[in-house]
Amino acid sequence: MDLTSEEQDMLDGKFGKAAQKSMEILSALGEIFNAESMVEVTGVQIAGVSYDNLGEAGLEFLSEMAEDGKVKVLTTLNPAGMDRENWRLLGIDEDFAKNQNRVIDAFARMGVITTCSCTPYLIGNSPHFGQHIAWAESSAVCYANSVIGARTNREGGPSALASAITGKTPNYGYHLDENRHGQVLVKVNCDLKGTDEFGVLGKIIGDKLVELGMKIPYIIGITSATVEELKSFCASVATYGGTALFHMKGITPEYDKYPQPSENLIEINKINLEQARNKLIDDDIEVDFVSIGCPHASIYEIEKISRLLKGKKVNKEFWITTARPTKRIADEAGYSKIIEKAGAKFAADTCCVVAPIKGRFKGIMVDSAKACYYGRAKNKFKVKIGTIEDCIEEAIK
Ligand code: F3S
Repeated sequence: MDLTSEEQDMLDGKFGKAAQKSMEILSALGEIFNAESMVEVTGVQIAGVSYDNLGEAGLEFLSEMAEDGKVKVLTTLNPAGMDRENWRLLGIDEDFAKNQNRVIDAFARMGVITTCSCTPYLIGNSPHFGQHIAWAESSAVCYANSVIGARTNREGGPSALASAITGKTPNYGYHLDENRHGQVLVKVNCDLKGTDEFGVLGKIIGDKLVELGMKIPYIIGITSATVEELKSFCASVATYGGTALFHMKGITPEYDKYPQPSENLIEINKINLEQARNKLIDDDIEVDFVSIGCPHASIYEIEKISRLLKGKKVNKEFWITTARPTKRIADEAGYSKIIEKAGAKFAADTCCVVAPIKGRFKGIMVDSAKACYYGRAKNKFKVKIGTIEDCIEEAIK
């Protein structure tokens, strides 16, 4: 791999230990994937922030990097294991909170902006078309590559941090034009609406891609999609299919840059959607937990929730998971007051998947196909998907 003299100096330790370790990580990655050089990145999103996932070993790595490491580019964090202000109300224990704060403090010492959100593109870490970035949250990676047209591989926590400290990433994979072509043609033969339905579509396409051993769908037949629907779709197709990039005719910016694939046709109709939706509703579920905001809720979704909850009372644990800056806008607009008066709780900085709540509830209702996957696999809950309206109805039942 060709390194510039600055990159070689980093590797030789002339910029300190953290930069050296970072360049070692990135050049090893580059060698594995046959990158010819590094490319500069304009922003980084680091995942693997919850102490639940990191443990002491992860924290030790971060503390070492924080001894002399400083980020060179705009860097934000994925959700942590707790709301940093409201953790007691959400039932998080004191020891966990202490350890979670040690993790966040290590990132802060390196100059990372400690907004903990999986939708950095909604709160200011927003690349533009064609920019190279190094992001690690799978749903955000898919959104950045597909909806924005920025360029990133699916980074791991350590490689994203290494890119933040050096401002570089190896130039391979989705950074290169030749790897961004659609591989599978997906024809959607029905109208779609809502975050839940776009999540179900992501599951169908993701499952099919795994069967075919392919990664990049080229989707036709969808005439409109909101930001919220696309973020839900991205989270789902990334979870079920490992997809980091898709093209959607008439919607995403690169759909006419690459040819429409002529083979591997998948057709999807209303019946397929209904069948896939039924797979995201467990038999005999007793819902005692409702959570909206996977990926993190936008201000538009919070406004909608406040409208639906106005003057009502929830009878179940009900979380709205979102980024802290979005929560602050909701506070100023008066939405938080209405929502909290109804008994629902904000869980900013965290989510129903990364918080340490395994086994705490019997059944979770969500509007997100990704949350269904991890609700079952990680937290051992029964799951039920529905629209935001369905979720609210369940909560106030
Ligand atoms: Fe975000 Fe947590 Fe869902 S990180 S995409 S809200 S699982």
